[in-house]
Amino acid sequence: MNSAEYNTPELQDPNISSMSEIGPGTENHFESRDQMQIVIVGHVDHGKSTVIGRLLADTDSLPHGKIDSIRELCERNSKPFEYAFLLDALKDEQSQGITIDTARIFFKSEQRDYIILDAPGHIEFLKNMVTGAARAECALLVIDANEGIRVNSRRHGYLLSMLGIKQVAVLVNKMDLVRYSKSTFDDIRKEFTAFLARVDTVPLGFIPIAAREGENIVEASDKMPWYDGPSVLQMVDLFQKESKKTLQNFRMPVQDVYKFTAMGDDRRVVAGRIETGSIAVGDEVLFLPSNKRATIASIEGFNIAPSSSISAGYSAGFTLTEQIYIQRGELMTKTSEIAAKVSSRLRVNIFWMGRKPMTRAGNYFLKIGTSKTPVKLDKINYLIDASDTLDQQEKSQIDRHDVADCILELNRAIAFDPISIMEATGRFVIVDQYEIAGGGIIRESLQDAQVPMREEIAQREIKFERSFISPRLRQERMSQKPTLVLITGQESTDRKGVAKALEEELFNRGRYVYYIGMANLVYSLDADIGISEAMPAEEVRPEHMRRLGELAYLMLEAGLILIVSARDLEPTELKGLETMIAPYPMLTVCLGGCRLGFDGEMLYPDESNKTAVTQVIDWLQTRKSILSF
Ligand code: GTP
Ligand code: MG
Repeated sequence: MNSAEYNTPELQDPNISSMSEIGPGTENHFESRDQMQIVIVGHVDHGKSTVIGRLLADTDSLPHGKIDSIRELCERNSKPFEYAFLLDALKDEQSQGITIDTARIFFKSEQRDYIILDAPGHIEFLKNMVTGAARAECALLVIDANEGIRVNSRRHGYLLSMLGIKQVAVLVNKMDLVRYSKSTFDDIRKEFTAFLARVDTVPLGFIPIAAREGENIVEASDKMPWYDGPSVLQMVDLFQKESKKTLQNFRMPVQDVYKFTAMGDDRRVVAGRIETGSIAVGDEVLFLPSNKRATIASIEGFNIAPSSSISAGYSAGFTLTEQIYIQRGELMTKTSEIAAKVSSRLRVNIFWMGRKPMTRAGNYFLKIGTSKTPVKLDKINYLIDASDTLDQQEKSQIDRHDVADCILELNRAIAFDPISIMEATGRFVIVDQYEIAGGGIIRESLQDAQVPMREEIAQREIKFERSFISPRLRQERMSQKPTLVLITGQESTDRKGVAKALEEELFNRGRYVYYIGMANLVYSLDADIGISEAMPAEEVRPEHMRRLGELAYLMLEAGLILIVSARDLEPTELKGLETMIAPYPMLTVCLGGCRLGFDGEMLYPDESNKTAVTQVIDWLQTRKSILSF
């Protein structure tokens, strides 16, 4: 029987895989003209809809006769005409096709096409923006000159910053109500510039406008000769386009590794959807967080002709020149480009939607790309809520609709990009008991305890000499998957007895298995770092563990099932070992009934040595993905 790859469904017919969705993504539909998404925000009634309506009317973007029919309707009902009615009418017409709460309105300048998102309220706006349902590259923030800066003017300014939208122009509206006063405009500009500076935003400009009157919307207004800056339309044309997805760094979350078992075809295909960038046959790729490197041998498509390069928006499969172990959840990147970040500690901004608040005690999953990793809330830096200022609130939990700047601690490191660098790989969702309960963006990669170890592993992966015999060939020959079984427990437990009995049982069943006790290392590989007065145990222990991890890695590379017995292993040490031997699986068997705060694969046999051995063998057997007999 064939030994399977980790997490790799055996597919005879690749068409049943997710790869059948090959085809252009949205990016490719708009090649002819540039398109830009703008969101418009601001306090209630400050004139957002009027600005949009006026932009539509004055750029001739409305359906013929629309404005007249609305005007007539208003007259018949003796209501004053409002540009907002125009939008409502348009929204109604569009609403069937809209699945999100933010209405999209289209207009164009000579330069490009615009999609403007009229955010109905900050909750919906946030929800759509953090989950990626809506995406804006820049923003217009409207402030009523007469009312001045209000709660939501500030809050929205903060949210834009939180969402990583850096291009913001502020429209000071209803200038007619303040007799087009320069000093009123200047006061608002000064105060709001200072506020935005606190949230790291430098606005591209402030424009005094009277939306209803059309002043400074498309043409320069003669009511405000003291202003010589751009009109709203000129300003949006000044917004810079984010670089096209195809031009960004290559990123592809690995969806699966498929194995072809058809006659004579022994390719492994790494499949996924390319989020950004492009890639060609012959490019060297780096998989993160595992740090595995390989070169693209071919690009496989099922409904498209084989090609030598492919770019963002497409789903595809790749064969590699080297046979390496990788699994779903890894991020495929190009070694020639800016590396993605890898860490288990992240500073993030979260928007919480769950009915139950997010707490430090809760167990959640973080989903980014194709990976799903257990995560805990470690610290809330601050929360923003309905208060007028950014004064930080002390709170121990994140309630529904709260926005928090916080630190997350993942069970193991993931690959990502901070939102300021790449949008596609900087956004995540939090799952609480099978439901999406929050969304957010990654602001910063924080140092976690394993940084030095990962750097060492990265070096190892670059320098490692790979033999002509691939790990897969070795596995097939040996009919087993390399696996590390750690037998641990307190001093009184019979770890060695269990380990040796397990080794013997597996050996008798024809497995290639090897047992190492800690003493085997202490008096050999580790003889130079023996515990002495100069070297207390707490100093040598990490080095013992490092050497054990590297030795285990070599033995797993050689195809063995390795059994190690060691006393009192700490969760951090287990995590370290798991990192060092990844992606080989590790099973920890803890004898004597005590529980370890480690969330890897664990067994807690509580009776005789014999049951412990049986349980491990059962585990190895039932986990077909790990070991097939
Ligand atoms: P919400 O969507 O409810 O948050 O409001 P909004 O920000 O979209 O404001 P809207 O465009 O509906 O305008 C609110 C009111 O302000 C309407 O009665 C407009 O006619 C009025 N208004 C908008 N622009 C101007 C202006 O330049 N001058 C004056 N005087 N009134 C204006
Ligand atoms: Mg409105």
